[in-house]
Amino acid sequence: MDITPLTRNPSGDFVGDVTGIDLTKTLTAQQVAAIEAGMDRFAVLIFHDQHFDDDTQLAFSRNFGDLEISSGGEMSKPEDRRLKLEMADISNLDRDNKMRAADDRVRLNALGNRLWHSDASFRAIPAKYSLLSARVVPGAGGNTEFADMRAAYDALDDKTKAEIENLITEHSNAYSREIIGFPKEDYGQQNQDKLRPVRQSLIRTHPVTGRKSLYLSAHIGTIVGWPTPEARAFIRDLMEHATQPQFVHAHVWRPWDLVIWDNRTTMHRARRYDDLREVRDMRRSTIRGDAITAPQQQAA
Ligand code: OGA
Ligand code: MN
Repeated sequence: MDITPLTRNPSGDFVGDVTGIDLTKTLTAQQVAAIEAGMDRFAVLIFHDQHFDDDTQLAFSRNFGDLEISSGGEMSKPEDRRLKLEMADISNLDRDNKMRAADDRVRLNALGNRLWHSDASFRAIPAKYSLLSARVVPGAGGNTEFADMRAAYDALDDKTKAEIENLITEHSNAYSREIIGFPKEDYGQQNQDKLRPVRQSLIRTHPVTGRKSLYLSAHIGTIVGWPTPEARAFIRDLMEHATQPQFVHAHVWRPWDLVIWDNRTTMHRARRYDDLREVRDMRRSTIRGDAITAPQQQAA
């Protein structure tokens, strides 16, 4: 297995292009360790020509830890799901493999992916890796962009670094949905757990490399102890800083690409495509994190 740096930024390696390995086959412990070491160094790894089906993707994913249960189809009932529970359906298809209509609620909800975010940052224990497999890609558009939150942190001035060192943010799916214009009350009862704000550190330290990174996401609604308008204005500033071109890589998908990103050290967003006319079938498996990043509020 070889990793070629695709993008370097002012802080070093960010996106690596991996060749010489077939991820659909059972891997040795050494191969898994090599991928993990690559993830620690780069934060985003791209593999081409990985002909996964859902079972081989899930089997490969389990090498890196326990899987999250997807809530991607949250606006639909469980029986409307196209994919198994461990697989987030990042497509524009319904369970009959038909393209969703313009006013389809699942489609509208999925537009939240167009905001810069880190997966499952609204969970007390947020996601570690996400693994996104491209099965069908549109002819144009539909890139995924990644931003390096280690490089974004490194580039802050010392005064700002000191100011934000111990800040705690509150994340909830309600905040990101608000940004794209969903009314608060328009949310399924079964998803209430995703609305209760959870606390996250604004600065995270990578457990292996010791590098610090900014932990930002569209799900942030406030900073603990701050007036909300001031918190939101500041988070916007940090978002703008962290998504400058020198920290961002755009991935142009080919069918059978598999991209793994580290949600602890990166943000990502989906880019627009003609989803009423072209199929984009992507499937995501997600590795659970191992710890909270900040003490949670006591339940009342
Ligand atoms: C995701 C996601 C972006 C995309 O799968 O978590 O945000 O480009 N995807 O589909
Ligand atoms: Mn995502």
